[in-house]
Amino acid sequence: MKAVLLVGGAGTRLRPLTLTTPKPLLPIANQAFLERQLSWLASHGIDEVILSLGYLPDVFVEHFPGGSYGGIRLRYAVEDHPLGTAGGIRFASEGITERFVVCNGDVLTALDLTAMIEFHDAHGAAATIYLSRVVDPSAFGVVPTRADGEVIGFIEKPPPGAAPTDWINAGTYVLEPSVLDRIPPRLEVSIERETFPRMVETRGALYAYASDTYWLDIGTCETYLEAHADALAGRLGQTPAPGAREVSPGLWTQGDVSIDSTARVEGTCLVGMGAGVGSGCVLADAVLGPRVEIGEGARIERSVLLEGARIGGASVVTDSVVGPDARLGSHVVVTDQTIVGASADLPPHTRISGGRVRPGPTAEAYRPIEVGKG
Ligand code: GTP
Repeated sequence: MKAVLLVGGAGTRLRPLTLTTPKPLLPIANQAFLERQLSWLASHGIDEVILSLGYLPDVFVEHFPGGSYGGIRLRYAVEDHPLGTAGGIRFASEGITERFVVCNGDVLTALDLTAMIEFHDAHGAAATIYLSRVVDPSAFGVVPTRADGEVIGFIEKPPPGAAPTDWINAGTYVLEPSVLDRIPPRLEVSIERETFPRMVETRGALYAYASDTYWLDIGTCETYLEAHADALAGRLGQTPAPGAREVSPGLWTQGDVSIDSTARVEGTCLVGMGAGVGSGCVLADAVLGPRVEIGEGARIERSVLLEGARIGGASVVTDSVVGPDARLGSHVVVTDQTIVGASADLPPHTRISGGRVRPGPTAEAYRPIEVGKG
């Protein structure tokens, strides 16, 4: 069975990380999010995936040099201008003649896709949408249904307290090829705002499969950190990352690492291959990517340091993300959902709270970055 993955977005809410790495290729606990998603699809019988690309397409092609991953054949459909979610699906689905799966490229889920496909077949729907339940649906597309699951409406981002249900469009669909005829070719069209709401007018065409299983949109700094906390807590699998071993209570490592005997680990931490942790450091619920170096006496708490990041002595990183190969001098303090871009270079004693630092060691480093679309 085939799947189309929508991975063409610019991921503006996760800038500056996404200025250099497309969101689906950002690691979650040291494994690219997309690899986790492909493994999940393979476990439900998907053997061919078409990546619907637009933003930074070459980075995807380079990431999978053999054009495959874990038994899944990969194909690439590169848009020359953004086609939106439905336009992207239409463009990527050329030649598909059987029912297929569509996934947003930023949703971590343990959904039983096999059961959802069975539900789709049993109802004879043209399209079935996976619904997840959230506490506050006001930031999502809310989808009320009849008792048997038939969709009766779409309400995008209802005002707080006004949503008729807390079940939201969770970004995974099973589609019959007939749905493609409803999407005009080569135009920018949104499936959640245009195609699906119009399908509601045809009785029996659109069903929803509601499931309360693990679901998280990793697209903001807060949820990106949450995904890591979930990986450390064992909510994404038995180990936080493939090949990780728990070498002492709460300390997971991948391959050879160097951790000074005076360093302290609190909570659960993951330390990637070739990383080094200096004397007197404290790691608390932290994820260190491969080749990360932590200087003497630094404290890393509820934070993610991506591959090759270097943290100077006595620095503190709390609730933040440090991009690949970024360098923090000594006594730097980075807190409150700060994101430091790839290869940025922060001088000693810099303090940043809730900021975004541009990639690269340039004088532009502190120029504000536009985050999100609004
Ligand atoms: P933000 O800019 O932070 O909102 O992130 P985003 O660009 O990923 O947008 P959003 O989260 O709304 O997109 C949901 C999914 O659709 C993501 O997996 C995107 O990669 C994908 N997507 C968004 N726009 C397009 C597009 O024009 N073409 C394709 N192929 N995919 C898209």
